[in-house]
Amino acid sequence: MSTRLHAVQSDITPLHVGAVVNAANSSLLGGGGVDGAIHRAAGPELVHECRLLGGCKTGDAKLTQAYRLHADYIIHTVGPVWRGGDHGEPELLAACYRRCMALAEEKSVTSIAFPSISTGIYGYPLALAAQVAVRTVRESLPPQTSIAEVVFCCFSPADLLQYEAVLNAPSA
Ligand code: AR6
Repeated sequence: MSTRLHAVQSDITPLHVGAVVNAANSSLLGGGGVDGAIHRAAGPELVHECRLLGGCKTGDAKLTQAYRLHADYIIHTVGPVWRGGDHGEPELLAACYRRCMALAEEKSVTSIAFPSISTGIYGYPLALAAQVAVRTVRESLPPQTSIAEVVFCCFSPADLLQYEAVLNAPSA
């Protein structure tokens, strides 16, 4: 069975998926943007579990329960802050997507939704980030995967157009 990759324009918090990915910071204790929205929607138990995780390095990811979200898990990852592009940002962003896919696979998740990691407060240019996201997710899918659906959850119509362009390009 081949995995379906697609983009939607939505708030990520109401999605019904196996795993919702959070664009967190290294404290894992919440913040603004999608991180704040996920913590608000999941409820206060989320930060209690996050406190036990000892933070997270840039490019890494950690998994928690999803509490009040319509998901089984939240996968918290820490994207790179954009500093011009020659400070390892593409490799670190790719590492985020790879780690999230590996954790989802470990839990036999069947669907996963990603926000556009690093492209808000962390300033990563959306068009470049979308290419890394789509390419890395494709490369991370093993031949026998539990993951049947990958959703790229775009917050704005402009972001959706960019993701769709990358998804429909001959090679991302
Ligand atoms: N649903 C889906 N996407 C969203 C939502 C939402 N509810 N809210 C924002 N986005 P950002 P970053 C989009 O800033 O750049 C936090 O404070 C947003 O439009 O949330 O990785 C953390 O604690 C953008 O496309 O995350 C860190 O300190 C994307 O999500 C820092 O921000 C990512 O934007 C992480 O910065």
